[in-house]
Amino acid sequence: MKKILFSFYLILVAVATYAQSRIVQNFNDNWQFYLGDEPQAKNLKFNTNNWRTLALPHDWSIESDFKAEFPARNDGGALPGGIAWYRKTFTVDASKKDQLFYIQFDGIYKHSEVWINGQYLGKRANGYISFQYEISKYLNFGNTPNSIAVRVDNSQQPDSRWYTGSGIYRNVYLISTNKIAVANYGTFITTPKVTATEAKVNVSIEIKNAAAAKSVTVEVGIYRAGKLVTKANQSVNVNASSSTKLSQDLTITKPALWSPEQPNLYEVITRIYDGKKLIDEVKNPLGLRNFRFDADKGFYLNEQPYTLLGVCLHHDLGALGAAMNTRALERQLQIMKDMGANAIRTAHNPPAPEVLQLCDKMGFLVMDEAFDMWKKRKNKFDYHLDFEENHKQDLEDLVKRDRNHPSVFMWSIGNEIREQFDATGIPLTKELSAIVKSIDPTRPVIAALTETMPEKNFIFQSKALDVLGFNYKYFDYDSLPKRFKGYPLLASETVSALATRGVYDLADTLRLWPASSKDKYVVGGNPDFTVTAYDNVAAYWGTTHEIAWKEVKKRPFMSGTFVWTGFDYLGEPVPYPFPARSSYYGIVDLAGFPKDVYYMYQSEWTDKPVLHVLPHWNWKAGEEVSVWAYYSQADEVELFVNGKSKGIKRKEDGDDLHVSWKVPFEAGSVKVVSRKGGKTVLEKEVKTAGSAYKIQLIADRNNIKADGKDLSFITAQIVDKDGNIVPDADHLIKFTITGKGSIVGTDNGYQADLTSLSKPERKAFKGKALAIVKSQQNEKGNIVLKAAAEGLEGASVVVKAVK
Ligand code: GAL
Repeated sequence: MKKILFSFYLILVAVATYAQSRIVQNFNDNWQFYLGDEPQAKNLKFNTNNWRTLALPHDWSIESDFKAEFPARNDGGALPGGIAWYRKTFTVDASKKDQLFYIQFDGIYKHSEVWINGQYLGKRANGYISFQYEISKYLNFGNTPNSIAVRVDNSQQPDSRWYTGSGIYRNVYLISTNKIAVANYGTFITTPKVTATEAKVNVSIEIKNAAAAKSVTVEVGIYRAGKLVTKANQSVNVNASSSTKLSQDLTITKPALWSPEQPNLYEVITRIYDGKKLIDEVKNPLGLRNFRFDADKGFYLNEQPYTLLGVCLHHDLGALGAAMNTRALERQLQIMKDMGANAIRTAHNPPAPEVLQLCDKMGFLVMDEAFDMWKKRKNKFDYHLDFEENHKQDLEDLVKRDRNHPSVFMWSIGNEIREQFDATGIPLTKELSAIVKSIDPTRPVIAALTETMPEKNFIFQSKALDVLGFNYKYFDYDSLPKRFKGYPLLASETVSALATRGVYDLADTLRLWPASSKDKYVVGGNPDFTVTAYDNVAAYWGTTHEIAWKEVKKRPFMSGTFVWTGFDYLGEPVPYPFPARSSYYGIVDLAGFPKDVYYMYQSEWTDKPVLHVLPHWNWKAGEEVSVWAYYSQADEVELFVNGKSKGIKRKEDGDDLHVSWKVPFEAGSVKVVSRKGGKTVLEKEVKTAGSAYKIQLIADRNNIKADGKDLSFITAQIVDKDGNIVPDADHLIKFTITGKGSIVGTDNGYQADLTSLSKPERKAFKGKALAIVKSQQNEKGNIVLKAAAEGLEGASVVVKAVK
């Protein structure tokens, strides 16, 4: 402990010497954790000898085995909630006595209470919201230690329709500022005019003064790639113990516009000077884009018609649970980007700040969503219990935190809110929309609705929405412009098709699982709780990917689509009961392996030539197999089985999204060739695999940062002697590691696999498994992951941890 305190002291001293202004310090390391209730732990002095030391972000639920008896049920991921405590001790250098200190939590699930040195700071019920407490007046300076204690209560279950995670699962910061400083979220950057020739930028700034009145200079600079583009300054008198607001206009000529395709970013730096001395500095991203919705023609970005090609994403990161990890998130977004998605809906809650930072940088438009319920419940212990007391502050905090992100283009005040069905929806919608607009009048407010009859939809009747989002019900699309005259429309949620990667039922006919509202589960589903990956199974309220996309695609007044969902997520394993514990809706499975329909989207949503063939080529002799191909940038595809042509197919009328053949199986190979103007564009071949022979390990990155956070995602494939993936291989793979790294999770994408996702062993599923390897802080060198399975040649891969 001494050593830890000492190094903390060193950091503060070092930073204090160089920075005259605010210090935002990552506060994730060296927390003590106890799973259970320990009310005495709030006191300054408390013995945590038996507690576990860990680094945040941390999700205790994901560490457990899956069990049917957990009250969250399989809807909540069949994982436990509970009560737990976190504590951290630290010192603050005596030279910082005149500073103001804040502790900032990006998210704690849920009902957190925080104490500093035994003093109660407050409670936040909402598990997804970011918040901070000022702690200046309770702090000890010098060698006297401080203790921060956090009680987390996620014991009342079921509290959600999906897996939430439990604990301090997002980042924590200790922030110090001078007594005159920009208020928390005190900058608001708007762009009153953005054209190709000129952008007008307004920065409104709130300065907090906890000292005597003073005249200060406020400078606003706009930078691009570190170079100053323009700046302006003004003198302001800041009164004692009060807040002062000011506004600064700037102009950028020939701006580099922001779009998902070209996410050009600027940076706005707001600085406060006392004479020549810099006393505060705050940085915000700036993306110059304009957009609008047109009721007849849909969405426009930078004056061009633009279809929103979106996916809904829950917040879990697969095997890592809810614990925030920037690389895991970046990987998810990269997989979506490569598919052609240009928009994300943060279903159905405030995202981690990193989601928006990455979306600004990587190029996604974000529908930032606040709530899944208001006063009326969806689950016994969900946020409806906390709504009354907390919704105003929660919504204000969300909009304040996120309003400077260029990626954020609309605020969703709710998903399938029950109040849409009676008159209570009217005042509530008005209130929530007014809260949003009081903090950000520049972006449209939307809600994701299900009721398509205006006279029955009371959220609509409030007239407080700018854009109407409709979930599912594509058969009503044509009547929407008549029923909701003059309103811009968006398919805020579509599809809810079901699939398990690598599973193919040969009866490839359209099925609804469950079939109707009378059933909770599928009747007569697959005994192993899998769902075929031919795109032909959907929940009864949804439809297949192809149907859903075609219906949006042909109607320009629908501004775009948000597919349910980009990735499988923990919980909501419709159409099966336990042991199913994660969802089937993803275009990509929980491990991050794309299901086949990923390539349908890629062929429609990108300009790159695509050719993908399914299924695998290991069947019984003579079995009639449906072979499908998704393709683009070509006129036709020819199928060959063992070199013999089985015919050329074309997508007819521009309406088809795949081509298919029915052929009797014969062992060997199936090959598709796409052609344009007679010339081959792409070829894809799948061979009949022999018996399983060895494991292959493929790391997504062989170099990672030695920062204790960075990850390598390593795919284990079971292949035959010739390297063909064995499509039904399910060997138990044991992973071991040497060097300065650890295995932080494993997965295989199978929704009913009951091995804990934090275990270093995993059965392969349909030939594949995943191991996630993390570096250690300041530990450079080779990390070697080995994989072994009975009866197979093992494998190893080297990942270098570098500076
Ligand atoms: C929607 C809902 C989503 C998810 C989905 C499953 O109605 O908004 O949260 O439950 O159904 O199909």
